[in-house]
Amino acid sequence: MMLRFVPLLVFLALLSAPLAHAQDDAVERGRYLFAAGGCLGCHTAKGGALLAGGRALKTPFGTFFGPNITPDPQYGIGGWSDEDFLRALREGVSPEGDFYYPAFPYASFTGMTDADILALKAYIFSLTPVAEPSRDHELDFPYNIRVGLAPWRWRYFKEGPLEPDPAHDEAWNRGAYLVKALVHCGECHTPRDSFGGPETDLAYAGTTDGPEGAIVPNITPDPETGIGDWSAGDLDFFLSLGMLPDGDVTGDVMYEVIEHGTSKLTAADREAIAVFLQALPPIRHAVERKKP
Ligand code: HEC
Ligand code: HEC
Repeated sequence: MMLRFVPLLVFLALLSAPLAHAQDDAVERGRYLFAAGGCLGCHTAKGGALLAGGRALKTPFGTFFGPNITPDPQYGIGGWSDEDFLRALREGVSPEGDFYYPAFPYASFTGMTDADILALKAYIFSLTPVAEPSRDHELDFPYNIRVGLAPWRWRYFKEGPLEPDPAHDEAWNRGAYLVKALVHCGECHTPRDSFGGPETDLAYAGTTDGPEGAIVPNITPDPETGIGDWSAGDLDFFLSLGMLPDGDVTGDVMYEVIEHGTSKLTAADREAIAVFLQALPPIRHAVERKKP
C-alpha cells in the first residue's frame, strides 16, 4: 500500500468508528423497542422462524396473518428504505401505496418518534433473513378490498407522532408514550365498535371481545370495575411477573405481553406506565372477569 494513503485510511477509520457505534446503539435501542412493541408475537408463528410470518389473528372481519418482516429482500422487507419503514408504521401505508389493515396496530405505532421507528428497523435488519412467503389473509368480502379502508382511516386514524403534554411531568409523558403508542395497551383494553374502531369514550375500560376471545379487564382507576385499588407497586409486580395482587396468575394473552414485553422494560418505564394509568379518568364499566 502506498504510504501516502495511510493518513486518509486512518482518517476514514476514525470517521467510521463513531458511525458504526451509533448504528450499534440503534440496534440495541431497537431490540428494547421491539420487545415493548410486541412485534414478535404477531409476526412469528408458534415454532416458526423469527419474524417469518405470524400466527392467525381472528377478527370479526376475517383472519389475518402477520407477514414476513425479516430482512429477506424477496419475501420480507429487506428491500425497504428508511422512508418505506417510517411510512408503514407512521401512516399505515405500504411502499406500493396500499393501506394496511388496522390488525397491524399502526394506529398506535404512529405515535412513536422517527428515531424510535428507525431504531426498530435497524434491529430488524440485524436479524437473519428468512426466505418464506407470507400467508395471505383470509378475509370476507368486502373486507378483502384495501381501498375500503379509506373511510376507516378517515374516521379513526390520527397520524402521530405523539406530542409531549407540557401540563404533565416527564414520567406521565413517558407512560403515555408507552401505553398509547409503543406497547399499544388500548388495542386490547379499549372496546371496539362494529367498524372495528376504538370506542374512545370507553378508552381502557375493557371489553368482552378481546383477541382470541379473551375478556380484557378495565384498567382505568375506577375502584369498583377498574384497578383503582391497585398500588403502583401492584402494577409493577403485575407487569413484571403476571401476578395479580390477589395472587392469581394472568391469562395467556396478557401473559405474552408481559413475558416478551413489559417484563423486559426498565423499572422506570414500568413505573411510568403506572403513573399514566393511575392518572386516567376512572370509567365505570363492568367487564366480567374470567377466572384463570
Ligand atoms: C397485533 C398484531 C401485530 C403486532 C403487535 C405487530 N404487527 Fe406488524 N403487522 C401485522 C399484520 C396483521 C400486518 C399485515 C397488515 C396488512 O396486510 O394490511 C402487519 C404488517 C407489518 C408490516 C408491513 C409488512 C409488509 O410486507 O408490507 C411491517 C413493516 C410491520 N408489520 C412491522 C411491525 C413492527 C416493527 C411491529 C412492532 C413494533 C409490529 N409490526 C407489530 C400485525 C402486527
Ligand atoms: C394483546 C392484548 C393486550 C395488550 C396489548 C395488553 N393487554 Fe393487558 N390484558 C389483556 C387481557 C386479555 C387481560 C386479561 C388476562 C386474563 O384473562 O387473566 C389483561 C389483563 C391486564 C391487567 C389485569 C387487570 C385485572 O383487573 O385483572 C392489567 C393491569 C393490564 N392488563 C394492563 C395492561 C397494560 C398496562 C398494557 C400495556 C402496557 C396491556 N395490559 C396491554 C390483553 C392485553
